[in-house]
Amino acid sequence: MMGLAGGSHLHILLALLVTSICTVRSIKLDVSGEAIASQLLHLATFTDDPNPAVTRIVFTENDLLARGYVKELMTAAGLTVREDPMGNIFGRWEGTDPNAGAVVSGSHADAIPLAGAYDGTLGVIGPIAAVAALRRAGYRPRAPIDVLMFTSEEPTRFGLGCIGSRGMAGELTAALLDEKLDVNGTSFKEASTAAGYGGSSHQEILDGTLIAKGGVAAFVELHIEQGPLLEAEGTQLGIVTAIAAPAALRVFFSGDGGHAGALLMPNRNDAGLAAAEVALAVEASVLETGAIDAVGTTGLFEIGPNTVNSVPREAKLEIDIRDIDATRRDAIVASVLQTVEEVAARRKVRHRVEMINQDAPATCSNQVIQAATEAAQELGASHKQMVSRAYHDSLFMARFAPTGMIFIPCRNGWSHRPDEFATPEDIERGVKALALTLAKLAGSADAAHSEL
Ligand code: GLV
Ligand code: MN
Ligand code: MN
Repeated sequence: MMGLAGGSHLHILLALLVTSICTVRSIKLDVSGEAIASQLLHLATFTDDPNPAVTRIVFTENDLLARGYVKELMTAAGLTVREDPMGNIFGRWEGTDPNAGAVVSGSHADAIPLAGAYDGTLGVIGPIAAVAALRRAGYRPRAPIDVLMFTSEEPTRFGLGCIGSRGMAGELTAALLDEKLDVNGTSFKEASTAAGYGGSSHQEILDGTLIAKGGVAAFVELHIEQGPLLEAEGTQLGIVTAIAAPAALRVFFSGDGGHAGALLMPNRNDAGLAAAEVALAVEASVLETGAIDAVGTTGLFEIGPNTVNSVPREAKLEIDIRDIDATRRDAIVASVLQTVEEVAARRKVRHRVEMINQDAPATCSNQVIQAATEAAQELGASHKQMVSRAYHDSLFMARFAPTGMIFIPCRNGWSHRPDEFATPEDIERGVKALALTLAKLAGSADAAHSEL
């Protein structure tokens, strides 16, 4: 009898297990890549330049319109919206475990001048769609799930990237924010307060933003690759293992200027030519390393008075240097700084250097990598591990929470340009992978999904 009873228990257990696995396998994620793509294109209409270009600078009218649309989508997906003093927007799906930290997914909706419709925005609208699909599938999270839109991932307005995530991570000081004025001399405090966020001081803004940090159990960001590898190899998903270390610096030269006809060549101290030498030295210093992972860009080059018949008196450069290897990156920075000194002395121009940021790289968490890998496997999607050469809010979330990223291919690897594009099929697959990853990290309230 005992044997029989034990046997039938075993049978029932096996049946339950099979049901459970089938339930997991058959979680019916109803995601429409076309619908998400059209939401992305609608978001793209909030822009300072005509589409297909997207220019959306933090706390401008178009940024506020975009925020309004994102909050509408969050609310429609049943998420409860809250915002912090920096303007980071959270949409919460409550879990059943009141003691569990939140599994968070997000990215940014600000866009550099003449950018495209997918950078960052996919990582904001994608998780809203993922949560909606999980809800429709009957899944209920054990831990809360937050969709998060960060403030100012792009450095355009205040000259510093990832402001919202740096703030959340506690990697920003009030003194640094005090220094960061936009081109009109407006501070972050003034701009954020005018936008309906902010506080009475940068310290108060930072204190109010830091609070969310303690409640994050894991973070995952969906993003277009912004590079060509996935598309070229025909791989459907990238699972990010590390994020390259970014650094940026600003260099000023000033000479005496003068008349382009009358001032003889031996008597000039041309600030523009000093800057040109440094821009070329950035490229040379990077190439000298022989490392394919090292990159350097002089993306901003201004001279004054910027007129044809005047020797340039002023020059300003902004230089971006990145590498997976922070030590090698720092050596390139040091070599560029040395060139600045050497050129200034030789050309008899005055100079000043400001380090904008020199951030450490990030390593993604095995827990998130594993969840994303299982998600890709369950979808039958081809996938590979890769590094992110672009920076993301994940760089700062990784400072305090287990963090990972999921990449989808984008056309020709193009990004930060108007013709940036990802297909609805790739978007759909990415959002499904994100949904399964979130479900695995948050756990299920129901026994039927407990194997997630
Ligand atoms: C983010 O936009 C970056 O510059 O990597
Ligand atoms: Mn970007
Ligand atoms: Mn981005």
